[in-house]
Amino acid sequence: MFKPEIYQARRTKIKNDLKNNGVLIFLGNNYSPMNYPANPYHFRQDSNFLYFFGLDKDGYNAIIDTDTGEEILFADELTIDSIIWMGPQPTVKEQAEKVGIKTTAPSAKFSEYIKNASDKGQKIHYLPPYRHENMMFLNSLLNIPFDKLKENASVDFIKAIVKLRNIKEDIEIAELGKACNVGYLMHTTAMKMANPGVIEREIAGTIEGISLSHGSIPSFPIILTKNGQTLHNHYHGNTLNEGNLLLVDAGAQTTMYYASDNTRTMPVGGKFTQKQKDIYQIVLDAINKSIEIMKPGITYMSVHLYACEILAEGLKSVGLMKGNVIEAVPKGAHALFMPHGLGHMMGLDVHDMEDLGQNYVGYSDEIDPSDTFGTAFLRMGRKLEKGHVLTNEPGIYFIPELINLWKKERKFEEYINYDKVYEYLDFGGIRLEDAILITENGAKIMGDKRIPITIEEVENTMNS
Ligand code: GLY
Ligand code: MN
Repeated sequence: MFKPEIYQARRTKIKNDLKNNGVLIFLGNNYSPMNYPANPYHFRQDSNFLYFFGLDKDGYNAIIDTDTGEEILFADELTIDSIIWMGPQPTVKEQAEKVGIKTTAPSAKFSEYIKNASDKGQKIHYLPPYRHENMMFLNSLLNIPFDKLKENASVDFIKAIVKLRNIKEDIEIAELGKACNVGYLMHTTAMKMANPGVIEREIAGTIEGISLSHGSIPSFPIILTKNGQTLHNHYHGNTLNEGNLLLVDAGAQTTMYYASDNTRTMPVGGKFTQKQKDIYQIVLDAINKSIEIMKPGITYMSVHLYACEILAEGLKSVGLMKGNVIEAVPKGAHALFMPHGLGHMMGLDVHDMEDLGQNYVGYSDEIDPSDTFGTAFLRMGRKLEKGHVLTNEPGIYFIPELINLWKKERKFEEYINYDKVYEYLDFGGIRLEDAILITENGAKIMGDKRIPITIEEVENTMNS
């Protein structure tokens, strides 16, 4: 946990931003049972609650009253039954002191407080809920129908949080760096294990353990597959064979839940074929060249389109695309091979603040999301600023179902050499991903060392 002053300063900032604007509700998370309450999934506190109130505890809620300046933490003391089963804990008052909160109240008082505030004519602000328990609670508290809860969430509250959380503080950058260093261990371990005869889950389980042993559960379910053409493939039951490409997209969380997110793609057995090298080098050029242009003031939409141009030119050089490929990118022809965005914000969540609405996080009044297939999946398009942390993750995928569909529709025939594409139907996919910090004048890859990425570095690591 950070020092109490950090949380106090964050609360003061949001209070100043939303001065005399009513009451802000911060709902913490509860344990989610696997089949009975005492057998829960790993607890993960809500990230907004963590950001302003720091406490990694279930059953905690809080408010900030922007009219009076009051901050209250609502939680119950442990019962003797909980102490017997789960052990003793500091009192709610002691927990509150750790994050600089003076006023506490029992959970039962929370609804009463909100009802009183509402009766007094104070505006009540809440964030878009993503857990059903919190939806049920808000529904009964505010009498808003379930299907209207998201659209009635407070846009002012969302925007005030995004303004703070989008710019990472130095202490957050240090935590994110730690998460990336654990990511380094996870990915280099995967490279050393990727041999013929190994089952994907043997590697996935090992690297999940690395995240757990250094901090917490991974920042998202590990993607580790020889079928990398499926973008978020969570199936880990295949046996690796010589000639397969293994795509590993995995990240850690620190003890304070700051995330990392990297992707590497490697040849099973440790030696790329020439055909694999040719495609790999195109993706490598796209990530390296697009990182070079990242700096404050440039939109990430333009970095995305630039990376796609590099991919398209590379695809043309191996005969998979043709014609004026620079013209093809804004039309979306390259999206047959790269149907996703170049990256997303990263912080306390791997897709930082996606619960608040990606458009508020990754876009701004100056730039709207695209509706062109491929670029429409870009979660982050806004102007880069010092202190942003985001991913850069280009890829080239051969998705048989999409290839067959586009071929049937004769889509972008002027740009796509379908005969050649059919030679790659069983190729799989390649993605490379680094986390990037935007600095005063440019960008920096996060973590003490970059995870091996050149063809030579990957082969050397695999064979070491
Ligand atoms: N690493 C998973 C994702 O970015 O969606
Ligand atoms: Mn990512």
